[in-house]
Amino acid sequence: MTVVSGIQPTGKPHLGNYLGAIVNYVKLQDEAVASGGECFIFLADLHALSMPHVPAELSAATREMVATLVSCGVDPAKTVLFNQAQVPAHAELQWLLNGTARMGWLNRMTQFKDKSGKNREGAAVALFTYPVLQAADVLLYKATHVPVGEDQKQHLELARDIAQKFNNDFCEPDAPLFILPEPFIPPTAARIMSLRDGTAKMSKSDPSDMSRINLVDDADTIMRKIKKAKTDPEPLPSEEAGLEGRAEAKNLVGIYGALTGQSTAEVLAEHGGEGFGAFKPKLGELLVETLAPINARFRELKADREALDAILARGAAQARERGVPTLEAAYRALGLVRG
Ligand code: TRP
Repeated sequence: MTVVSGIQPTGKPHLGNYLGAIVNYVKLQDEAVASGGECFIFLADLHALSMPHVPAELSAATREMVATLVSCGVDPAKTVLFNQAQVPAHAELQWLLNGTARMGWLNRMTQFKDKSGKNREGAAVALFTYPVLQAADVLLYKATHVPVGEDQKQHLELARDIAQKFNNDFCEPDAPLFILPEPFIPPTAARIMSLRDGTAKMSKSDPSDMSRINLVDDADTIMRKIKKAKTDPEPLPSEEAGLEGRAEAKNLVGIYGALTGQSTAEVLAEHGGEGFGAFKPKLGELLVETLAPINARFRELKADREALDAILARGAAQARERGVPTLEAAYRALGLVRG
């Protein structure tokens, strides 16, 4: 079992990042270690160049996300935790795979279409080739499990296509270089929505701070945001079908279940019939209880830049060591002379 996943170094990590992605990293890290496998989690800072960015903010956000991951339980003693920019093999392998990836394949990527919008001609080339770098990220370490959200499934399929074509074109049939990676959509991955609009994802770019719980919010702020969260006047139903068409109620129940490890049905069996006046304070307290220790560790780590840089340097050294054999084999397979 080799787990590989990347996370964008966005500033202001929130509950959606935690329950949607980070919690699963921690679970998979422990499973990988228990089964004698390995776990690689990296900050996708090279991918950040695909959109306009402010350099000083990128470096700050990269360190902040490392502090977040570690505070949430990603353990640098169990996981190889690093940023792409310190492992040149990612960019090198991407170039090698650019010879295998087809224009037509990339043209079909919905993320490129969404993010370039009407300004296709003005989009960065990096936005177009983004999925090839992502393929390099996972193929370099021969990933078997790639935890991602639904929106990244298409990129993973592309990584499989690239791996397959490279193996076909440049490897002996009995000695393929790349392993075809599987997207791993954790069954427990929670899709956390905005507290103001149950149909929109919780996002750091929502102009209203009331729409999200930031991992740095203090107890009072969390309680206030939950009390003000949009709901409807009905009490909670006792069964899942009763959440149909009630996006905001569904979201709060989903958050509650993600925090306690219960399914929606289990939460409703316990809390069905309660009005939000009763349910919201319980949810708020649960959030405060879960986030307080994370919050404390985060504040301490964030202030210790040396410690953060040391974590990244050590992770990068391990990643380079683990990735280089695959990279060298790719160079050789392509007939490139390497001393
Ligand atoms: N594109 C992913 C996202 O936006 C981040 C990412 C980059 C990634 N490289 C990866 C995820 C490799 C999994 C594996 O969420």
